[in-house]
Amino acid sequence: SELTGEVEFENVDFGYNPDKIVLHDINMYAKPGQKIAFVGSTGAGKTTITNLINRFYDIQDGKIRYDNINIGKIRKPDLRRSLGIVLQDTHLFTGTVMDNIRYGKLDATDEECIKAAKLANAHDFIKRLPDGYNTVLTGDGSNLSQGQRQLLAIARAAVADPPALILDEATSSIDTRTEAMVSKGMDALMEGRTSFVIAHRLSTVKDADCIMVMEQGRIIERGTHDQLIDMKGRYYQLYTG
Ligand code: GTP
Ligand code: MG
Repeated sequence: SELTGEVEFENVDFGYNPDKIVLHDINMYAKPGQKIAFVGSTGAGKTTITNLINRFYDIQDGKIRYDNINIGKIRKPDLRRSLGIVLQDTHLFTGTVMDNIRYGKLDATDEECIKAAKLANAHDFIKRLPDGYNTVLTGDGSNLSQGQRQLLAIARAAVADPPALILDEATSSIDTRTEAMVSKGMDALMEGRTSFVIAHRLSTVKDADCIMVMEQGRIIERGTHDQLIDMKGRYYQLYTG
């Protein structure tokens, strides 16, 4: 059966090493289609939470549910196929642009890949490459700019058409115009899907349904941008610098 993108954490404790807990008592609930953002200083646990949503690790205590199913009981490869991931450093392989997009769904047709690239806002730059979709990328896409690699990552996630997504925003600087193209692609990808966003720019999280403010492995504040500003706590401090 298809998952809707509903995700729930109940009293989750986790440590990469069982005797050093890095996430403490995490509770959160994402309705299908909601955008959840994580902010907080380095080492706070943002990436770790998304690693658990992906079920990359077993948890020490608590429950993680998708649509009321405790995913601790689901074989990890089955689960991963249901999630789309756009990580900071997407792995591109030596092969055509088309095949690199198709990697998101191995039986996708060329038409599906092109449709995904259009949604991702990647189609225009691909058309301008020497051989368009048949352009061969060098190992790790080093013949593309960082922004272009991100657009391909978005297209790759889009072709899988997942109910839920994890977006880890790039920290390294891309120019403003490229950044605008990437965020347009990301917005289109997030539309109608549950999205977990690790944002390094507060401007990206402003429209989230819920912002989780993390510190030392705990969620210390949560709410919409306006609620958190009114709270005049940690988020307010981060936001007003
Ligand atoms: P930034 O990405 O720097 O903003 O931090 P973050 O909020 O994503 O923190 P992250 O979840 O990566 O780290 C939380 C804690 O887990 C830190 O104390 C890290 O040192 C630790 N940690 C992260 N990844 C690993 C890992 O692969 N192994 C181990 N043993 N510890 C890790
Ligand atoms: Mg991180």
